[in-house]
Amino acid sequence: MSEAVRTVMQTSVEEARETSGEVDPGFLWDFWYPAARSTDLRAQKLAKALLLEVPLVLGRTAEGKAFAMRDACPHRGIPLSYGRVEGETVECCYHGWRFDACSGQCVEIPSLTSQDKLKVERVFAGHYPCEERDGYVWVYMNAPGTRLPERIPEAPALKVFGQKYKIIHLSCELPSHIDHGIIGLMDPAHGPFVHQSWFWRKRASIHEKAKQFEPIPNGFRMSPHTPSANSAPYQLLKKITGEPVTTTIDFILPNLRTEVDQSGKLWFSSRATVTPVRRDLCRIDFVAAWNLPLPVFLFRPFAKKFLRQDQETMIQQAEGLKHNPRLMLIDDADRQAKWYFALKANLLESRRTGAPMVHPMDGPVTLRWRS
Ligand code: FES
Ligand SMILES: [Fe+2]
Repeated sequence: MSEAVRTVMQTSVEEARETSGEVDPGFLWDFWYPAARSTDLRAQKLAKALLLEVPLVLGRTAEGKAFAMRDACPHRGIPLSYGRVEGETVECCYHGWRFDACSGQCVEIPSLTSQDKLKVERVFAGHYPCEERDGYVWVYMNAPGTRLPERIPEAPALKVFGQKYKIIHLSCELPSHIDHGIIGLMDPAHGPFVHQSWFWRKRASIHEKAKQFEPIPNGFRMSPHTPSANSAPYQLLKKITGEPVTTTIDFILPNLRTEVDQSGKLWFSSRATVTPVRRDLCRIDFVAAWNLPLPVFLFRPFAKKFLRQDQETMIQQAEGLKHNPRLMLIDDADRQAKWYFALKANLLESRRTGAPMVHPMDGPVTLRWRS
């Protein structure tokens, strides 16, 4: 393992432990993160969320627009989530200050008299851009103490190929730092050990694989290929359509893994995100949509089991990591993890210097491993 990779990995995880109280240097700011499911936000109700250790209050205005504010009143810091939604505003429970929910701007301070000079409209509660996509409430987390940029990118959306499809959402928490959550997500070598089951693959089916990867902006792509012959679902897909299956898997900073499987007119599209909640806790949100003749009630238990297997492994890993062991990233099975750390480091460097981001890959690469 190169020293650089070791350093990035160890510093981001170790510093996270040491600098408690300050912002975790392993968090990536200025990106969209899923904060809640759309169905969690009911009219006239406030909900709480924690993203990158920032407490948020989420809700919907009377018009139905989702909003996200810092869960702290700028007056005395009481969580705004103890207050209430009033039309397009949130009212603090303590002295009744009201804030426009979408801009954070104060619109009323009930205690002011006609003699008071305080300019109410100059008072702001912290607020974050908020959008709904694919049944999630996404929040754009700009770095603490910074202003929102003029233009922010679109919130991520799941790729779908038509109007009619089935969709499921699953999530689970991992007692892990975001970096361990992410490299666990992209790790190709744990499949035959962690995900052993009749419907997926058996340990005995391990064989050598060669996969082509290419650089994409802020990430890398496993180039379109025919998926592993030892996975039953892909075999099934091929049987139904009689046409070859192609799979494209992308990883994009800060935390998105998408996979699209296509065979003839049939498709299956999924996305997993790993979102930092605290430095020692992250959450996987998995969404999948498809037009295959596969009922949701059949797919759900398999997907759940798969996630639970990952979760149990990460719980066990956290037990080991408490003692701060030295870790390794090996070639080629851990090369994607190395790219992740390098992408992250290069992004931070380009933000620091203002120079264009250097991509850690200079062209297509074939990786080989057994799984
Ligand atoms: S603390 Fe919120 S209005 Fe005073
Ligand atoms: Fe896994």
